Amino acid sequence: MKEIHDFRIAERQQLGDQYFRLVLKHDSTMQPVLPGQFVEVLVEGSRDVMLRRPISVHDVSDSTLTLLIQIVGNGTRRLAELAVGDRLNVVYPLGHGFTTALPSGSKALLVGGGAGTAPLLHLSKVLKAQGIDCTILLGGRTASLIPVQDDFRPYGDLLLATDDGSLGHHGIVTTHPAFANAYDMIYTCGPTPMMKAVARSAAQRGIRCEVSLENMMACGVGACLCCVTDTDQGHRCVCKDGPVFDISTMHKWFEQC
Ligand SMILES: Cc1cc2nc3c(=O)[nH]c(=O)nc-3n(C[C@H](O)[C@H](O)[C@H](O)COP(=O)(O)OP(=O)(O)OC[C@H]3O[C@@H](n4cnc5c(N)ncnc54)[C@H](O)[C@@H]3O)c2cc1C
Ligand code: FES
Repeated sequence: MKEIHDFRIAERQQLGDQYFRLVLKHDSTMQPVLPGQFVEVLVEGSRDVMLRRPISVHDVSDSTLTLLIQIVGNGTRRLAELAVGDRLNVVYPLGHGFTTALPSGSKALLVGGGAGTAPLLHLSKVLKAQGIDCTILLGGRTASLIPVQDDFRPYGDLLLATDDGSLGHHGIVTTHPAFANAYDMIYTCGPTPMMKAVARSAAQRGIRCEVSLENMMACGVGACLCCVTDTDQGHRCVCKDGPVFDISTMHKWFEQC
């Protein structure tokens, strides 16, 4: 069930110039949040930010939600000014998350780029708890644009790739040697060209794959149709029908460069 709730900022951590992390504390019983679901946050105190902003759930506990946010514009800049003790109004949980019901012992590859790393932490925790063998491949243009790394280490084999070679493998994520290994499932979230490349490769190799789209959104609940994406079954709202889609329904999307 969806809830609108005023969370209290319990922790705030700056991660380099562009990213910060907020731990939001609920004062009562939280709704369950599945990996890949997102929230819509109200940006207060900014005259030019009217609409809520969609942000993935990075991590959850019984009474907290953690968000990992990249500063890209006025809304996220305003959110970056929040301090411990402030309130943040949140609608959650929104959208359909990743498929996590895989047989124990399955091999999964999680591929994240930039802010698309965010939903993969909660996902990797849930998969690990189910006995799934996770390889986590995080990429960015340069080292400082891979915001979190160590948090993932307990949940799988962590691999890194940077376009400029400043950290890990030198090249984009799809050129990492581990990318060519056999997997039962690939999950990806990040820049659209990266996700399309991952999806194309998975499709060619017959590997099941889910992509988490980050189209621009307004209402977040399927009412305004501003977030539609072209699927093999016609237009679908990313907020309500996604943000996670199985690529078996997304040929029209990933076959276009
Ligand atoms: C389902 C979903 C989950 C998301 N999860 C996260 C997350 O966990 N962490 C995070 O940092 N960001 C996430 N985003 C992206 C985030 O919502 C946007 O960066 C944010 O809304 C930008 O707001 P702003 O006011 O700062 O920037 P704006 O002033 O609105 O935009 C600044 C610039 O960013 C571009 N932009 C805005 N929104 C997007 C978008 N969705 N995709 C690509 N470019 C965009 C604009 O075109 C513009 O160039 C998610 C988006 C979606 C749809
Ligand atoms: S954001 Fe309004 S329909 Fe998706």
